[in-house]
Amino acid sequence: MLPPRGGLLWLGLVLGSVGSAALGSSATDALNVLLIIVDDLRPSLGCYGDKLIRSPNMDQLASRSLLFQNAFAQQAVCAPSRVSLLTGRRPDTTRLYDFNSYWRAHSGNFSTIPQYFKENGYVTMSVGKVFHPGVSSNHSDDSPYSWSLPPYHPSSEKYENTKTCRGPDGELHANLLCPVDVADVPEGTLPDKQSTEQAIRLLGKMKTSASPFFLAVGYHKPHIPFRYPKEFQKLYPLENITLAPDPQVPAGLPPVAYNPWMDIRQREDVQALNLSVPYGPIPADFQRKIRQSYFACVSYLDTQVGHLLSALDDLQLASSTIVVLTSDHGLPCTL
Ligand SMILES: *[C@@H]1O[C@H](CO)[C@@H](O)[C@H](O)[C@H]1NC(C)=O
Ligand SMILES: *[C@@H]1O[C@H](CO)[C@@H](O)[C@H](O)[C@H]1NC(C)=O
Ligand SMILES: *[C@@H]1O[C@H](CO)[C@@H](O)[C@H](O)[C@H]1NC(C)=O
Ligand SMILES: *[C@@H]1O[C@H](CO)[C@@H](O)[C@H](O)[C@H]1NC(C)=O
Repeated sequence: MLPPRGGLLWLGLVLGSVGSAALGSSATDALNVLLIIVDDLRPSLGCYGDKLIRSPNMDQLASRSLLFQNAFAQQAVCAPSRVSLLTGRRPDTTRLYDFNSYWRAHSGNFSTIPQYFKENGYVTMSVGKVFHPGVSSNHSDDSPYSWSLPPYHPSSEKYENTKTCRGPDGELHANLLCPVDVADVPEGTLPDKQSTEQAIRLLGKMKTSASPFFLAVGYHKPHIPFRYPKEFQKLYPLENITLAPDPQVPAGLPPVAYNPWMDIRQREDVQALNLSVPYGPIPADFQRKIRQSYFACVSYLDTQVGHLLSALDDLQLASSTIVVLTSDHGLPCTL
């Protein structure tokens, strides 16, 4: 089992022969590890008691797993929270609070969890967003230290922030809310679908491997923009979407402590609302639409997790693989 270092796993589901030694003296009878890390997922899941969300695959995983009930986020942005999780060290030690440095060069040559597995006879593989891309992982997802094979990134990810969302005017926009017809988007696919396919290909290859594996699969949704197959929107009729219970800026909040969500404001559909900076507010009907699309992305993500876990079963790897599902830090703003 992964040691619970640092306590960053705010949502962790563990499946498999929990309690057996994954890193025994012999690598041949060691358990494999499948780490699924989801970007900006908060516990809006059936297994955490949410009555609206449809997350049957993650709920089923939770039902045969250890479900963690406490949330810890060392830093509410991707790069530092992921580096903290993957090195087992707090941001005060990695000295990364933003996106702009690589810990090995900046604060210490700390080992990572995948590196530790790699150095102990595992084949380690990265699919999608595991480390945050860019400087904070040396533009290489910490290769070659962490990974046995070159990390995989879905080719359609480059379209995430481009004009691929059909607006009411019939034109394509770069929107926050972006339910799409998958057949219509560039390459006819979405990044998380490609990541699932690649992960399943790798599992197929590892089935006959003499070495155990550590496969990390990093899903992009439900991070913004909410670009997802439009059929998932139907699961969440707007009239069933409640507003956040706590939308007000807290009285006495120092302005420096407020996040004006500039990354959301840049999107064309949000720009059109002429929201005042820094506090908004966002009109109630648009708040409902944001929540609807976030929930739809969670359900879309859930189907990807379902495909991945089915493949693990079909390949008869489930009983020899520990599954961990976690997020990086929940959602950095109240939606
Ligand atoms: C970062 O990557 C560059 C080139 O790929 C490499 O030369 C350098 O040694 C790496 N930095 C560290 C600290 O490993
Ligand atoms: C960092 O540590 C790795 C082993 O964990 C070692 O191979 C590498 O040479 C070290 N790099 C530096 C710059 O000390
Ligand atoms: C929407 O709410 C109504 C009334 O509570 C309920 O009957 C219906 O099942 C809900 N629909 C969905 C998709 O959750
Ligand atoms: C936003 O401002 C533009 C230009 O002033 C105006 O045309 C538009 O109607 C405004 N939109 C809303 C939602 O108020």
